[in-house]
Amino acid sequence: MADRLTPVLSAGWADDRAWTLESYTARGGYLALGTALSMTPAELIDLVKTAGLRGRGGAGFPTGLKWSFIPADSGKPTYLVVNADESEPGTCKDIPLMMASPHTLVEGVIIAARAIGARQAFVYVRGEVLHVIRRLRAAVREAYAAGYLGERTGVDLVIHAGAGAYICGEETALLDSLEGRRGQPRLRPPFPAVEGLYACPTVINNVESIASVPAIVNGGAEWFTSMGTSTSPGFTLYSLSGHVKRPGQYEAPLGITLRELLDLGGGMRDGSRLKFWTPGGSSTPILTADHLDIPLDYEGVGAAGSMLGTKALQVFDQTTSVVRCVLRWTEFYKHESCGKCTPCREGTWWLVQVLRRLDSGQGREGDIDLLLELCGNILGRSFCALGDGATSPITSGIAHFRSEFEAGMRTPLAELFPPAASTLFAAEGVGA
Ligand SMILES: Cc1cc2nc3c(=O)[nH]c(=O)nc-3n(C[C@H](O)[C@H](O)[C@H](O)COP(=O)(O)O)c2cc1C
Ligand code: SF4
Repeated sequence: MADRLTPVLSAGWADDRAWTLESYTARGGYLALGTALSMTPAELIDLVKTAGLRGRGGAGFPTGLKWSFIPADSGKPTYLVVNADESEPGTCKDIPLMMASPHTLVEGVIIAARAIGARQAFVYVRGEVLHVIRRLRAAVREAYAAGYLGERTGVDLVIHAGAGAYICGEETALLDSLEGRRGQPRLRPPFPAVEGLYACPTVINNVESIASVPAIVNGGAEWFTSMGTSTSPGFTLYSLSGHVKRPGQYEAPLGITLRELLDLGGGMRDGSRLKFWTPGGSSTPILTADHLDIPLDYEGVGAAGSMLGTKALQVFDQTTSVVRCVLRWTEFYKHESCGKCTPCREGTWWLVQVLRRLDSGQGREGDIDLLLELCGNILGRSFCALGDGATSPITSGIAHFRSEFEAGMRTPLAELFPPAASTLFAAEGVGA
């Protein structure tokens, strides 16, 4: 089973002081930059296109194609912005990557910036993770001192700390925030490739997408496509969490199954049976034990009625109330709604009210239909994907576990999930 792992990004994470330039170069770091400097921007874009790298931020948009949208002759500066806001519940891949090997990202930034003709790049980091911000800034200082950033490569890099808002991970809200304004999504078009940061052509990519580029330059497109599936090639970081024996980061080819990843993680905890799970964070519809063998790639998860999203696999056992869990996620979306549009601002508030009633066993007849109606008024009618994502756990939760929601109209949660199980749950520090 162990041969299913493909440690590339995570290969050096356990090295002594893996985050330093010395350690990174000792394991072959910055060799890809040397190769990239001998290539033209068009060759670099072609390489990433042929490799078929798909954006790891959630939507899976082809990275090389995104880069090729940058106009060649806009007469304005071009910017590269790395999205390191990582706030989707359950998602914890970019932060460990930046902590363990920040130079992988810095090298990827320099190569990507050269491919799109950007002299200035930014990494927008979630504000709460001060330790990551410090580590990235230390890596940037080392890269300047070694001549990787600056005059020799023609690329400058700024690490920008956000203030800790989930919506600032949405790429256009991120741009507003980076410009010093309140982070709220922008109307599109114009798309960032044409008018992004400071109304100039801009590429926005996830940390993992950019960090994958040096390995592709080193290994080549054929090597990259030898992993994963034909439409979702390569390796990726899966974040496995919840009632599993060994939660953590598992770097594996796209298309691996949850059954295989659970095996690699030592299986469910003793006494735990898989009840439900998210394939890509809380914005992606939940799945059940019936979906253990679906391929975890963009097409496989889509065919099962969900989305691969950020590949944050949160697994929950029989002691977990679906209603309680969905309520917690919905409270998050209500809190993080930026308030720009009515369906999301008002709708998430109402969703929380109804879910709280059901969770306490004081639901009213018709509450399930009310939830579905509210979701129907948010999905597809919100200004950005946060609103859509907020409906996913609710509609999928009702689809798979309707009886638990129905029980919320007549049974207090404590009767459904006996205190013994809840106490154990709380003692283990897992939010329910
Ligand atoms: C509410 C919301 C939050 C998001 N948060 C992130 C995030 O933290 N990191 C990220 O890379 N993408 C996030 N995205 C997706 C970005 O808008 C964008 O698609 C992504 O950064 C593009 O990078 P990629 O093409 O490399 O995947 C978020 C989207 C939404 C709607
Ligand atoms: S969907 Fe929510 S987060 Fe997105 S713009 Fe509307 S209010 Fe803001």
